Amino acid sequence: MKHYTSIHDIDNINSWIADAKELKANPLKDIELGKNKTLGLLFFNSSLRTRLSTQKAALNLGMNPIVMNVSGDAWGIEFGDGTIMNGNTAEHIKEAAAVVSQYCDIIAVRAFPTLKDKAKDESEHVLSSFKKYASVPIVNMESATGHPLQGLTDAITISEYSKKVRPKVVLSWAPHVKALPHAVANSFVQAMQKMDVEFVIANPEGYNLDSEITGATPIYHNQEAAFKDADFVYTKNWSSYEDYGNVINTDPNWMITKEKIGAAKFMHCLPVRRNVVVEDAVLDSDSSLVIEQANNRTYAAQLVLKKILEKL
Ligand code: CP
Repeated sequence: MKHYTSIHDIDNINSWIADAKELKANPLKDIELGKNKTLGLLFFNSSLRTRLSTQKAALNLGMNPIVMNVSGDAWGIEFGDGTIMNGNTAEHIKEAAAVVSQYCDIIAVRAFPTLKDKAKDESEHVLSSFKKYASVPIVNMESATGHPLQGLTDAITISEYSKKVRPKVVLSWAPHVKALPHAVANSFVQAMQKMDVEFVIANPEGYNLDSEITGATPIYHNQEAAFKDADFVYTKNWSSYEDYGNVINTDPNWMITKEKIGAAKFMHCLPVRRNVVVEDAVLDSDSSLVIEQANNRTYAAQLVLKKILEKL
């Protein structure tokens, strides 16, 4: 594998899950694989889990991680081709990506969407530019439209905690005060579509995700009906895709409660706003898998880096 920028880079999710479980059982077994190799982590946006778990994954493989907050600490980067750079940007991505490639064997990038310009976001202009102008493999640490490290993590976690051959998994929208990206939800949908699960989505009217991604997955606008017999309730807020980037519903009746999920396990990528997205009683109960998910971020990232290192 050269790059890991999408869930579609996973050729066989069941074998990837098995490999990740093996790494989790023995995290230092490939400690020599990344010796003298450098992972550059470039953050255009905030992070807790991705920043720490991806570094931890690199360390488990014997790599040297180096981290930069690009938005705060680097020169402003220009992405436009042929731009007359007499504004606020000081360095073009053509030089920036080529230069970082001199120091790093793999570059991981986090760059959120504008949520204002759908076409620009869907072009993945930051991630695609790194892919185009860097001379080393690129890993997506959450881009405008996808968070494939999180999607792989979630697939691993469901496989670990499933008591059934074919569990029922629900992705449920929940309210939020801010407009959030679609990336986590998109990658979760794509991961579930690759797994042997009964998968449905619950969201209010006006909140359907990109139909190119949801495809034939059933979408309910009635949360209670969607949750019937669920084994896993994966919750995430996202802004409207149709009315792009806008918050058109904050109905608190969509908040996740203990009563609603019953015996199902609760999942969320974190960070999560307590008592807005989900009530305390869920997060503070044995139903919640959020910490287990966060732990699995390390092994998902470690598997991705291992697969790339093996092809260097
Ligand atoms: N889930 C996730 O990506 O967390 P961070 O934004 O803290 O990295």
